[in-house]
Amino acid sequence: MGKTIFRNGWLADVEQRRLVRGELLVEDKRITAIAPRITCETAEEIDLADAVLAPGFIDLHTHLREPGYEHKETIASGAQAAAAGGFTTIACMPNTRPALDTAARVAWVKEQAAATSIVKVLPIGAISVEQTGRELTDFAALQASGAVAFSDDGRGVMSSKMMLLALQAAQALAVPIMAHEEDAELAGRGSINAGRISQQLGDEGIPAASEFIMLARDLYLAELTGGHLHVCHVSSAESVHLIRAAKARGIQVTAEVTPHHLHLTEAVVPALLGQAKVNPPLRSEADREALITGMLDGTIDIIATDHAPHAAHEKDVPLSQAAFGFSGLEVAFAVAQAALVQPGLLTLAELLPALTCRPAAILGLPQGRLAVGTPADLVVLAPQKRWYVNPDNLRSQGKNTPYLNQELIGQAVLTMVDGSIVFRRDRDASDA
Ligand code: DOR
Repeated sequence: MGKTIFRNGWLADVEQRRLVRGELLVEDKRITAIAPRITCETAEEIDLADAVLAPGFIDLHTHLREPGYEHKETIASGAQAAAAGGFTTIACMPNTRPALDTAARVAWVKEQAAATSIVKVLPIGAISVEQTGRELTDFAALQASGAVAFSDDGRGVMSSKMMLLALQAAQALAVPIMAHEEDAELAGRGSINAGRISQQLGDEGIPAASEFIMLARDLYLAELTGGHLHVCHVSSAESVHLIRAAKARGIQVTAEVTPHHLHLTEAVVPALLGQAKVNPPLRSEADREALITGMLDGTIDIIATDHAPHAAHEKDVPLSQAAFGFSGLEVAFAVAQAALVQPGLLTLAELLPALTCRPAAILGLPQGRLAVGTPADLVVLAPQKRWYVNPDNLRSQGKNTPYLNQELIGQAVLTMVDGSIVFRRDRDASDA
């Protein structure tokens, strides 16, 4: 494999949360030098032209839809979307058809990814057989075939006993349980956050309690078992308070928030209807502010996309019939900047750990930082670039984003996985 040298840009030192001027050399799939000036005559040169070279983003929450829902997304198309969004590693949720609940199915995803994906794909195994919450899967067998964590994402684990057993099994294997916190009975059949807007629209509403009551239970179960509870897509203020208190007690808990929950509220629902429908739902401004505070004070560890692609006919229908979820990989960086960097709450260098070294730490991955000897999984970011989100420039099959036809700021312009460029776009084009 050839050598590549990046010059004339800023290097994101995500552990020190700073951007430094410097050059970086890639040889044989790895970063082999980082210095103010590197001389290597045989390397191909990439002129960063003042852009930012960062570790490739790592998403711990992607829905790839294959097998079973290839009309929404395939592993190949989801990986293209990931690369275009600056992600070089994605962990995929098991709510496929069939669910990833056996070693063979996990192995199949690994094989399919090896054959068709341009980024690294890490399968997440199901907690329960068919994700029905009744019988635990064989965690050890699933881990042996490549599962990096366990989740029944898409629905909550209703049985406390099942969650206890899951956390015990995960503890023994030193992997996280990635919990979708939702009590199905409390959640009911609503489509959006319970409140004034759900009443106006005649929707039953999904109360925040459906999230934080199950979360409270799971935090106790994590304490009892010593298992690592990773809380998926936190959406409510009360959940942030519970996680903060649990961390103070020493419970092994990590948490993620999506860019959309940091940036949007239920106020966008009347205009966007099905395109604003996601689970957990966009909530109130007070909830959004609590998520921001949680992000700033370290209660929430990472940003994850919950990339949930759907076909047009599944979203462009009345609110009550629309599928839950947003296509998220390609807008994640820009939306995270809109929520945190443009309002002046974080610098870009302070935002990047939530997309790189912190998700890597949760799974114990070697990538996620710029360091000699680590895999050359890299992204070149144009943080000020303005671009329009339209169906044609999204690589995902899922065009279901509330940001359609809006201008966003910040985009990945080059993505490298194991030293190979897997994605490149015109840095000056607003519609690329
Ligand atoms: O909005 C969502 N969509 N939330 C989930 O938990 C599942 C996901 C999906 O699979 O579509």
